[in-house]
Amino acid sequence: MCGIVGILSKNNDDVVSDIINGLEKLEYRGYDSAGVAVVGDGELKRVRTVGKLNNLADKLKVNPVKGGVGIGHTRWATHGKATEENAHPMVTKDVALVHNGIIENYKELKADLLQKGYGFTSQTDSEVAAVYLQMELDSGLSPREAFREMIKAVRGTYAFLAIFKTCPDMIFCARNKSPVAVGFGDNMCVGSDASSISANCSEIVYLDDGDYAEITKDGATFFDSNLNVVEKSRVAVTDDLVNSGKGEYSHYMIKEIMEQPSAIRKTLLGNDVPRDFFKGISRILILACGTSYHAGLVGKYWFEKYLRLPTHVEIASEYRYRSPVIEDNTLALVITQSGETIDTLEAMEYVRRNNVTCKLAAITNVLNSAISRSADFVFHTEAGVEIGVASTKAFTAQLTVLAKLAFSKNPELLNQLQNLPQVCENSLLLKEDIDKIAFKIKDCVNAIYLGRDNLYPIALEGALKLKEISYIHAEGFAAGEMKHGPIALIDDVVPVICLCPSGNMFDKMFSNIQVAQARGKNVIVFTDTTGAESFDGSVEKIVLPSINEELYPILYSIPLQLLAYMVTVLKGEDVDKPRNLAKSVTVE
Ligand code: M6R
Repeated sequence: MCGIVGILSKNNDDVVSDIINGLEKLEYRGYDSAGVAVVGDGELKRVRTVGKLNNLADKLKVNPVKGGVGIGHTRWATHGKATEENAHPMVTKDVALVHNGIIENYKELKADLLQKGYGFTSQTDSEVAAVYLQMELDSGLSPREAFREMIKAVRGTYAFLAIFKTCPDMIFCARNKSPVAVGFGDNMCVGSDASSISANCSEIVYLDDGDYAEITKDGATFFDSNLNVVEKSRVAVTDDLVNSGKGEYSHYMIKEIMEQPSAIRKTLLGNDVPRDFFKGISRILILACGTSYHAGLVGKYWFEKYLRLPTHVEIASEYRYRSPVIEDNTLALVITQSGETIDTLEAMEYVRRNNVTCKLAAITNVLNSAISRSADFVFHTEAGVEIGVASTKAFTAQLTVLAKLAFSKNPELLNQLQNLPQVCENSLLLKEDIDKIAFKIKDCVNAIYLGRDNLYPIALEGALKLKEISYIHAEGFAAGEMKHGPIALIDDVVPVICLCPSGNMFDKMFSNIQVAQARGKNVIVFTDTTGAESFDGSVEKIVLPSINEELYPILYSIPLQLLAYMVTVLKGEDVDKPRNLAKSVTVE
């Protein structure tokens, strides 16, 4: 979480507007505060504000700063509230530093620095890194030596960028578990991802954990954790790495919802499952968080039914803290859009450390992410860059990969998958009908989502979508579980959103809906043409196109995304940047 950008102009041109443009691409990583610092005319200058980046841009119009080298930051607060004092860059007399991550030993470092007479102006963990650099400079070390000492002293996760007043032709950067990409082009640049620096560079080097780099006007030198110089391969900046903006849409989320047919089509084209992929595998362990966890839950239904492999799905943040039994010959499959989620990464590494017979595979949407690079085998969802904090197209692309894996021994179902892009395209035409439902439920305080079988995880996902962006409290339940408690929540007001297409579970689900209707007046049913015949006018109906029932989870996700989106628009909330959240969750 937090986004960082640094730019070093080869011609000493002012870099501030390029830094702001880069930060704009990183706001998905956090937007509690933002700031920029430059070295110009031999001085360190900094401007910071609370809130989103446009506040910083406005402040810079009134208090412009200029410099040929600079760093910027957009924050997701961990240590210390979202105040201006806690906004990055952290600045001392001679150093400016931005940080993404958590310095775990900041208390002891701070105590030591305080004892040595150094003062602090923020409550952040990050400030200790800046002050530590200052202490080393004061003791006579060069910026390079000071930076090396600082990364040796801190413990935790970090992406650091630092600039020094006395060294205006360099940026220092380092990585441990938080991403850093160094860009080569008209200017030298460094950022949290390729999008943030793509306007200024054509090639990128990704730092590995423990690496640090010295960036000069002539290029960059990379060092490993033993301070040996390392050669790193450059990758070209291609369209799939770059956020191409909102285009004709008012929000990234709706653009990304609309892109799903193409994301699914592209994902189907790749990701062929190697013939011997499941050879020797006796069970599957899925590790993931949030929406990706919901994709994993769907995977369990499919894997057990079609591969007959016992499948366990675990919340990654819980997994490694409860001494799990990891059985031999397990396929550990991690699912992550960003490929950077620390909980998921650590859970995967835990499996690696504790059972060498396990095969580690990942489904990710970001090539070159930490998890992509660490897994033994990677399936790449071809959803393209996803910016909206609420995951949409990445989710259906994850489900598409899971379906390819689960149906890999079932040619008939693999064939059915080819229908998905068109059917999903048709489901998007329901937007206007869904807008009407959104209008009806926008003022509710609570909402209930019900599904059964492979649509139970989609009920969970639908509820997550609604709550994370509209702030309406929503819960998903297995419809059959309602009678064991949650049914007490039903009254005349609460919307009960039911997923009830025709098929094996229809009769059971239909009965569950009758029970809900007997107690409430606000039942909304997502069904298909055959299913719709059983419902009278006492329920609101959204009628989706027909498809093989194994593929319902992919199709039925889409109208629920549209519903959450529209409710949020009607409520006037910030769809793409919901409060307290960030897209890439790199803190535990
Ligand atoms: O990048 P990941 O898929 O690992 O992210 C996991 C969750 O943080 C993510 O799915 C989150 O729940 C989204 N906000 C859901 O829309």
